[in-house]
Amino acid sequence: MGESLLSSSIAGVERVGSSLQMAGVALSDIAETVGTPTFVYNAEFIRDRYGILARAFAGMPHRIHYAVKANSNLAVLRLLRELGAGADLVSGGELRRALAAGFSPDRLIFSGVGKTDAELSLAIDEGIGHIAIESLAELDRIATLADALQRDVRLGVRINPEVTTETHPYISTGEKGIKFGVPVDRVPEAARRILEHPRLTLTAVAMHLGSQLTDPEPYLHGIRHLLELVEALEGQGTTTIEAIDIGGGLGVDYGDGREMAISSFASVVRGLLEPSGLTVYLEPGRYLTGNAGVLLTRVLYCKHSGGKEFVIVDAGFNDFLRPSRYQALHAIAEVEAHGREARVVDVVGPICETGDFFALERSLPAVEPGELLAVMGAGAYGFVMSSNYNTRPRAAEVMVDGGRFGVARPRESEAALFAGENPTPLE
Ligand code: LLP
Repeated sequence: MGESLLSSSIAGVERVGSSLQMAGVALSDIAETVGTPTFVYNAEFIRDRYGILARAFAGMPHRIHYAVKANSNLAVLRLLRELGAGADLVSGGELRRALAAGFSPDRLIFSGVGKTDAELSLAIDEGIGHIAIESLAELDRIATLADALQRDVRLGVRINPEVTTETHPYISTGEKGIKFGVPVDRVPEAARRILEHPRLTLTAVAMHLGSQLTDPEPYLHGIRHLLELVEALEGQGTTTIEAIDIGGGLGVDYGDGREMAISSFASVVRGLLEPSGLTVYLEPGRYLTGNAGVLLTRVLYCKHSGGKEFVIVDAGFNDFLRPSRYQALHAIAEVEAHGREARVVDVVGPICETGDFFALERSLPAVEPGELLAVMGAGAYGFVMSSNYNTRPRAAEVMVDGGRFGVARPRESEAALFAGENPTPLE
């Protein structure tokens, strides 16, 4: 797997002559200036993706709430906010980021299975669009906080739709027996409690089926569940529901040619939801940013060992975890093509674990130490999942737009990694 994966329709890059470029900027120029490893994001690609989704739902009431967890860099958030997106959040930190990026609180949704009192209080204080509850215990907690803070709160209820999806089990989130959502048979009780509480209003019902889905069918089943539920809740007096939140999960092509077809997805959603008059909320993360980004890394060594060829690069799984954690396929390309013969190699990082790899048994043009590689599809669940394991500074983040690039987050310094530590905490 190599150059054939590099169609610019799947990744926000193109080869001009021998050099890999993003929006008119040579990736090698970025590496020279900023160093490696570095995440590089293509603003125009994000705009295109947002446009495709917005056009697919044009004419029906809809809102696109970007799932901030996918890539929470302020430059990315600001761009999406300017395009008209709202945001889906899962922590107080993400809420503060979204506010820092200028999102209006009423365009924010707070999801998540384990929100703390401090996080809930912040969301209530800011008067966000709605908080999606995931249990009756959380509902009771919010009721108490709303009373104490004397604030009205708009709520969504995320159900467990019990829909099976074909994706990696770690990112399948709508099946029976997993931790997410209120069980459907408990939702009427939740709605009753909300109805009885003067400060609470139920404005949305929600689901999130899973991530990296390429088939619209599970959405069909999930939305039917939600519609039946809205009808049942109306039957018991809840007439305030404005929106059906169908979550995120739209899968992207990481190199195997599979991607959610937005036209079929939209026709499934529109067919079911347009007659209801309800607003559809979408929470895409990966679809908007996944293929907008690459991880630039430099080859440190090439090594032959145990009958295998290893390409050892300066990025590790602390920088980009997806291949290691989900055995996820990510195309890898040379930044400067040299026209060399392909070889079957493992592309691995410097971390002291065998699971530190970006590709196993991958056919790639031969590379030499000092040369640059680009790991594709690193714009979502890339930097945000990175860590300081092995006391490695987190990578820089760069945004490219209109033939120029700028640093959206500088590389961490090694000294900063332990600056706050106290070697003698008991003295
Ligand atoms: N809404 C909710 C409530 C979610 O939990 C998620 C993702 C999304 C929206 C956005 O999903 P997306 O459109 O990006 O698929 N780290 C994993 C993905 C975890 C996704 C968790 N929830 C990965 O690298 O594949």
